Amino acid sequence: MRLSDVPGLTQMALALALTASFLPAAGAQEAGAQAIERRVNELLGQMTLEEKIGQLNLVSHGPPLRWEDISEGKAGALLNFNSAQDVARAQALARQSRLKIPPLFGLDVLHGFRTQFPLPLGEAAAFSPRVSRLASEWAAKEAAYVGVNWTFAPMADLSRDSRWGRIVEGFGEDPTLGAAVTAARVEGFRKGGLAAAAKHFAGYGAPQGGRDYDTTYIPRAEMYDTYLPPFRAAVEAGTASFMAAFNALNGEPSTANPWLLTDVLRTQWGFDGFVTSDWVGIGELINHGIAADGAEAARKAILAGVDMDMMGQLYIKHLPDEVRAGRVPESVIDESVRRVLRTKFRMGLFDRPDIDPSRLDTAFPSPESRQAAREVARETFVLLQNRDDVLPVPSSVRSIAVVGPLADAPHDQMGPHAARGHKEDSVTILEGIRRRAQPAGLSVRHAPVCDLFCRNTDGLPAALEAARQSDFVIAVFGEPQELSGEAASRAHMELSGKQIEVLEELAKTGKPIALVIMGGRPQILGPVAERIPSILMAWYPGTETGPAVADVLFGDVSPSGKLPVTWPRATGQLPLYYNRLPTGRPTLPNNRFTLNYIDEAITPLYPFGWGLSYTQFAYSDVRMGQKQLDEGQILEVSVNVKNTGAREGQEVVQLYTRDPVASRSRPLRELKAFEKIALKPGETKQVTLRVPVESLGFHLDDGTYLVEAGAIQVFVGGSALADPVGEAEILKTFRIPPMERRASASTSVAQ
Ligand code: BGC
Repeated sequence: MRLSDVPGLTQMALALALTASFLPAAGAQEAGAQAIERRVNELLGQMTLEEKIGQLNLVSHGPPLRWEDISEGKAGALLNFNSAQDVARAQALARQSRLKIPPLFGLDVLHGFRTQFPLPLGEAAAFSPRVSRLASEWAAKEAAYVGVNWTFAPMADLSRDSRWGRIVEGFGEDPTLGAAVTAARVEGFRKGGLAAAAKHFAGYGAPQGGRDYDTTYIPRAEMYDTYLPPFRAAVEAGTASFMAAFNALNGEPSTANPWLLTDVLRTQWGFDGFVTSDWVGIGELINHGIAADGAEAARKAILAGVDMDMMGQLYIKHLPDEVRAGRVPESVIDESVRRVLRTKFRMGLFDRPDIDPSRLDTAFPSPESRQAAREVARETFVLLQNRDDVLPVPSSVRSIAVVGPLADAPHDQMGPHAARGHKEDSVTILEGIRRRAQPAGLSVRHAPVCDLFCRNTDGLPAALEAARQSDFVIAVFGEPQELSGEAASRAHMELSGKQIEVLEELAKTGKPIALVIMGGRPQILGPVAERIPSILMAWYPGTETGPAVADVLFGDVSPSGKLPVTWPRATGQLPLYYNRLPTGRPTLPNNRFTLNYIDEAITPLYPFGWGLSYTQFAYSDVRMGQKQLDEGQILEVSVNVKNTGAREGQEVVQLYTRDPVASRSRPLRELKAFEKIALKPGETKQVTLRVPVESLGFHLDDGTYLVEAGAIQVFVGGSALADPVGEAEILKTFRIPPMERRASASTSVAQ
């Protein structure tokens, strides 16, 4: 079944188009915006204080929500309503309310609704906005089909510390990649019918020690340079909303942080959608120690700029009294309600028919959604190493041993936040290999070895036997889903349990062996990187894990993912990231008093941007356009990339820069542009990467962007280890005030 055949979908598409989507084209934009403001103000004029605050109340399915709250106008937004039946019932109740304001239906739709696509960190490894848009659009289409209209995604939190379990929900460590991927996700969600919520604003990805929810210290200039660009990109891509973060930023909890929520978001960026708290985040202001009780927490949050209270019930309980007592001006409530109503009008909610309650999510996965999930997944696998070209599985191989607990883990392969994912829909790696092997006459032996956490290895002898009897071993290990995601910080990032011992034993069989790692973060491989020649990072690939992994293992498709996060050798190296500042004592071999560890190498195991293919790429003929750059000009670098191997492949061509002498220390390298290209054997393509001079500077603490005159070094290649290719010169120093700088100025990514 094609999605366009689904009854009612065309109607919805029409309703969306009639309301000019959420982003009307330039001409119609002003008239449309004015009409919306008129409708918002008319409606606001009819509302009681309680009805207004009801619009700011976001409640989950189940207690404390009473269904009557909806007809009484006390719940303007709902979450975890994920069946058409429940949505339709709530919509009918909203129609019985005095003002008939349609509710928002929010859900964590991150990487799929019923059909699971790769987890966001894996999807980022595709280095492809096209792929990100496609995955998000599918997730949204399926969720919107049953009436969900708002997703708590994308997560725009940059993280340089993979101890933090939620790194899996984002794009990794780089602001340029993060901005490109975040914008693409917002666009994809919108195209599929969901309003987005960029979360968690802000600094949540840098908790001390990688401990989820812990406090964050980030200087403001660094916020602007590194942590805020993906959020800014979400605004420019048209995100409808933001979610405030749980953490305190420099001592000020994000849920009551006027600098973030008002100065940056509203004043500097001009965002006119709304901000929700995270789950009981407002009540947690008491634990943060900045509010004595619920009333004070509610007051501080709304005055700072949090428009909506997720699951705290504090706005509805306290704000009426706070307003009556004069502690919160009613104009503040009005402004928050305006933001919510404006969003609902923009989304076309007032003009849409209610959902047909007979719709079932069993309409998915469809053959089309499976195909899309498979295509996306195979773009995301990162071939970390491939000594002796062990992969792809050679055609001479007649028998394969598939070992490891994650080879047949239909639930775990979906990863965390799988919305309505059903493990029954999953095709496992074992099944994918069997489907691929059978027609080719290959025999497949399966031995799980151990439980998911690999504590009990009673199955090892059987696995070793299977390996000895086979021509080739595919081992599938890594992180069970429970070790990844929210509240899954790890202090020990080694492959868990006895995985390392098991892999060493398997390697001793002398059979060619490829390790497929599943998981939501880089894991510490220890001796495994030495013992196992070929390692493929698969992340959590989703519903179509098996077919996608088989496509790549058997060489039907070359791997083309690149690491969106630096891969450490040891947990103690964290936080670890490529775009770090220089030190006064750069690493020198044999000099103890330089940047080093005494018990570990200083370098990562695999750098950011790293990923091999089954073919090789040669870079040549680098040409820089104009070498002297004035304000408003663009650094243009062209390079020829040739596929010098015997197979088709894709390469992510990456451009990095460095400002070697500035008024402040600048990173050793910063990714500024990238493009993913496909090349047939022997084929050469010229790639031109463009970087506006307006993105070659850095921020000051007040948000001013400073571009300084002087030399800029340029590096081009297939990872953060890219080669130096020359220098450009910025002719004059100039400043861009915070309100004038656009996120798009800092990203140059081919679509
Ligand atoms: C998470 C959010 C999520 C929310 C609703 C919270 O615990 O931090 O990211 O959107 O729950 O499920």
